[in-house]
Amino acid sequence: MAASIAKFRIIVGALALLWVAVSSYPAGAQPTSVDPTANAVSEQQLLQQFKTIQGRGSIPDTKSYTIEQPAGRDWRHFHEVTLRWIGAVAILGVLGLLVIFYLLRGMVRIESGRSGHTIVRFNAVERFVHWMTATCFVILALSGLNITFGKPLLLPLMSPEAFTAWSEWAKYAHNYLSFPFTLGVFLIFFMWVAGNIPNQVDVEWFKRGGGMVRNDHPPAYRFNGGQKLIYWIVVLGGGAIAVSGYLLMFPFYGTDIQTMQNAEMAHSIIAMLFIAAMLGHIYIGTIGMEGAFEAMGIGTVDINWAKEHHNLWLEEVRTGTQPHLAQQQPAATPGE
Ligand code: HEM
Repeated sequence: MAASIAKFRIIVGALALLWVAVSSYPAGAQPTSVDPTANAVSEQQLLQQFKTIQGRGSIPDTKSYTIEQPAGRDWRHFHEVTLRWIGAVAILGVLGLLVIFYLLRGMVRIESGRSGHTIVRFNAVERFVHWMTATCFVILALSGLNITFGKPLLLPLMSPEAFTAWSEWAKYAHNYLSFPFTLGVFLIFFMWVAGNIPNQVDVEWFKRGGGMVRNDHPPAYRFNGGQKLIYWIVVLGGGAIAVSGYLLMFPFYGTDIQTMQNAEMAHSIIAMLFIAAMLGHIYIGTIGMEGAFEAMGIGTVDINWAKEHHNLWLEEVRTGTQPHLAQQQPAATPGE
């Protein structure tokens, strides 16, 4: 009898132990609650449970008390993965297309050769504004790309001290050159808006591929369809990049963390597309087309270049209906 009671006790004890073990088994099997103030709670446990890590602080800026949160992790993924893909595809993609185009088409020559007579295309003020904006753009693009790609691409090639010094200067340049860049976009808008209103002639120009594929010369006024596209990319893209850039430069002035993250995403995506578009513009203005660079370099173009690429504009200048340039035409000689 005593033996049976002892056996019974052992069985009951074992069952009780089993029940305690099963009911106290924590992970996955049953939902548990985390006591965030407990000593043994790890950061990872807190993240899994709450998706947010909130601390306590003594400074008045309560935003700083949020240490981690889901939107922050999404933004970090955008910045470190998605944006780099967008930038690489846009910039390398356009570069690749331009190389292929150049290999197939070569430089678009002045078909009828140079006449030896020139005509004023851009005056000194226009060229100054163009080069000021373009110089700022290139430095803003390089210093901005350093924020996106510097760590994976440049840091392995130099010492951390050198990378820090370069990044610091790049950041100063990015902040301060934003002002002349914004002024330049503003001036470009007013200076050239009259010649950049889209019209029927542009539709025809685009239908004929701008004459770039074959030796075709679709009619154009002072600015052709492609140049108008670049103009509006600069004005609208430049405006959007400036607004989003200033929101980033003056953080939390009327913005919260969500708006800051959106501003950064808008700024950086526009920047990548803007850089890709400007590569096309730089290509046409340099090795892509004979006689184009001098328009902005020295301000004049050969009459035959004007005839082939901007015949309606040349007509306007000759008949004096281009008031801005009509009085500056000593070089447009009667030889034409
Ligand atoms: C008014 C003009 C501009 C202003 C005020 C401005 C301002 C800023 C600011 C404050 C940042 C954040 C920097 C940081 O995280 O410390 C930034 C980032 C950046 N900017 Fe600009 N910017 C301007 C124009 C441009 C232009 C013209 C480009 C390129 C064409 C550009 C490309 C970039 C890029 C790629 C980033 C890095 C984005 C990232 O990886 O997070 N910015 N800009």
